[in-house]
Amino acid sequence: MTEEFVDLEEIPGVGPETAKKLREAGFTSIEAIAIASPAELSAIGGISESNAQKIIQYARKMASIGGFESGDKILEKRKNVKKMTTGSKELDNLFGGGIETQAITELFGEFGSGKTQLCHQLAVNVQLPEDKGGLEGCAIVIDTENTFRPERIIQMAKAKNLDPNEVLKNIFVAQAYNSNHQMLLVDNAKELAEKLKKEGKQVRLLIVDSLTSHFRAEYVGRGTLADRQQKLNRHMHDLMKFGELFNAAVVVTNQVMARPDIMFGDPTKPVGGHIVAHTATYRVYLKKSKGELRIARLVDSPHLPEAEVVFKITEKGVEDSK
Ligand code: GTP
Ligand code: MG
Repeated sequence: MTEEFVDLEEIPGVGPETAKKLREAGFTSIEAIAIASPAELSAIGGISESNAQKIIQYARKMASIGGFESGDKILEKRKNVKKMTTGSKELDNLFGGGIETQAITELFGEFGSGKTQLCHQLAVNVQLPEDKGGLEGCAIVIDTENTFRPERIIQMAKAKNLDPNEVLKNIFVAQAYNSNHQMLLVDNAKELAEKLKKEGKQVRLLIVDSLTSHFRAEYVGRGTLADRQQKLNRHMHDLMKFGELFNAAVVVTNQVMARPDIMFGDPTKPVGGHIVAHTATYRVYLKKSKGELRIARLVDSPHLPEAEVVFKITEKGVEDSK
């Protein structure tokens, strides 16, 4: 299968009306439909169970999921993986040299731990030349909490001796109003990235800040937990695909609450469990320390050791602590 995204309308039997309904229900990609059950699709309304079955079958044929790829192809793809700097050497080391493209990096931690600050910094750093740790690319930000601040970008850009106006022009921000809209925005991001590519600009960073806030707010109670999980998985799959298609880094944030009630055990395991734990490639737990200092701990990485580093957030942005 090709690496291209395919529109839902290209599935035989799916017209614009059905496509619209599917998208509204969170089925925003062929892959999402390919892994759905007929009952799930027909629950949307306007699609009979037998029709749903056919749609799923077509989607499975068209989707690239579940397909096998030869080792040399995977190696070839891995060769293109690039790394960008966080602004702190210590923090870069934690990631094995920086934030990786073709991977999802999850930043999780309490409020004020620096997740959004780090996202702002990465949106600036991705624009740096490669010899300065950048990827000479643009950034797309899906902002769900309305916390994107151009003023902060200007501060950080100046600190890197970049033209703040140019830097702002290369960051594309959209507000997501709910979880379905958030998922749809990944499709829009793909369209934008393709358009920019034609203009000679590469999108090398996609940020979702926060990944989980809408999902948390909309799915409350035990009964809906499975639905939420399934939709989030779908979303993560779309994000990963974006990362692979554009050789871009994908960075998502996830607010978790500290557990003062638990004296022993792992404070990074929040109440309710992690909802994205197994889909992100790199997971970093951020924690407030004294003043400007922040602690970052890499958890659950398949090929990097669990480690902890200290960095700081200052007026200039993310920096080494010494
Ligand atoms: P939630 O989104 O609420 O979960 O938090 P977050 O992890 O996104 O926190 P965020 O990145 O917004 O961190 C906010 C903290 O960053 C503030 O409390 C400050 O400590 C620090 N910070 C933000 N802007 C500046 C700045 O201009 N200078 C300095 N020194 N620190 C700043
Ligand atoms: Mg934030």
